[in-house]
Amino acid sequence: MRAIDLRDLADTTAVVTGAASGIGAAIARHAAALGMRVALADFDTGGLDRVAAELTEAGAEVLAVRCDVTVADDVERLAAAVTERFGPVRLLVNNAGIESTGRLWELDPAHFARVHGVNVAGVFHGIRSFVPRMLAAGTPATVVNTASIGAVTTVAAQAAYVASKHAALALTECLALELAESGAPVTVAALLPGPVDTAIYANAGADGAAGDALRARMQGFLRERGVTPEAAAQSLFDGLAAGEFWIYTDPERADVLLRQRAERLTGHLPPA
Ligand SMILES: NC(=O)c1ccc[n+]([C@@H]2O[C@H](COP(=O)([O-])OP(=O)(O)OC[C@H]3O[C@@H](n4cnc5c(N)ncnc54)[C@H](O)[C@@H]3O)[C@@H](O)[C@H]2O)c1
Repeated sequence: MRAIDLRDLADTTAVVTGAASGIGAAIARHAAALGMRVALADFDTGGLDRVAAELTEAGAEVLAVRCDVTVADDVERLAAAVTERFGPVRLLVNNAGIESTGRLWELDPAHFARVHGVNVAGVFHGIRSFVPRMLAAGTPATVVNTASIGAVTTVAAQAAYVASKHAALALTECLALELAESGAPVTVAALLPGPVDTAIYANAGADGAAGDALRARMQGFLRERGVTPEAAAQSLFDGLAAGEFWIYTDPERADVLLRQRAERLTGHLPPA
């Protein structure tokens, strides 16, 4: 990842999916504060309108697009609308995501597919519609995919989410390799948030008693221990300015979890 001089982002365009609330809304606010034009995408039109009104009021140029990232044509329409209105995209943040709790054998197949539809296919659709346009523009651009610290760990009763985030991170790493090979000025970063105080668990689907209990517990944990969405957005832009590929919201905790994971893998130890 080449370091980005954040001053160079003024008068360029950011696209943020899942921008109607939480981390996505905070990233959009931060981008607008840097002087970027901001395209907000979400399927929550009420939230989208609120964030769009707030940013417009603050003086930003905003385009709000209703978009379900699980639908390839929706994301393609988003990319076409943004390019027509604002020209080349400088920063794409594939951030829309949903949580999931419940034991693997209790999960409804439709729920499992939905989680992967948003968290994995949603990221793929963003890459598929925006990267060719970035390559055609030939100007510097960056793709950020929001994974999770769960992308490098495993936990019980959250398997659908964790598996989807492992996949989203793998997509992100492969994309970085493919773009480096292409020689194009398009860079890639992975955002791996730790706990952030958003409504993600309240919005999540759950299956079975284990899922419901964990969902309530985790929503309380985020309230008590999560950083604010604004702090998460700050971590993202600090990471981009530092040229980081791996961007964490809690680097110290991430370091502990990464070391534990590496020890398990290199020590041939089973999950614990
Ligand atoms: N909050 C945390 O502790 C945490 C930790 C690690 C990773 N993350 C990741 O951060 C991202 C943002 O999560 P958040 O915590 O801000 O949650 P959130 O629920 O506040 O925001 C997610 C947004 O995505 C939107 N969305 C969901 N499905 C969509 C779809 N199909 N199409 C378009 N938009 C859709 C929702 O409407 C919502 O506005 C997610 O990818 C999540 O997995 C969050």
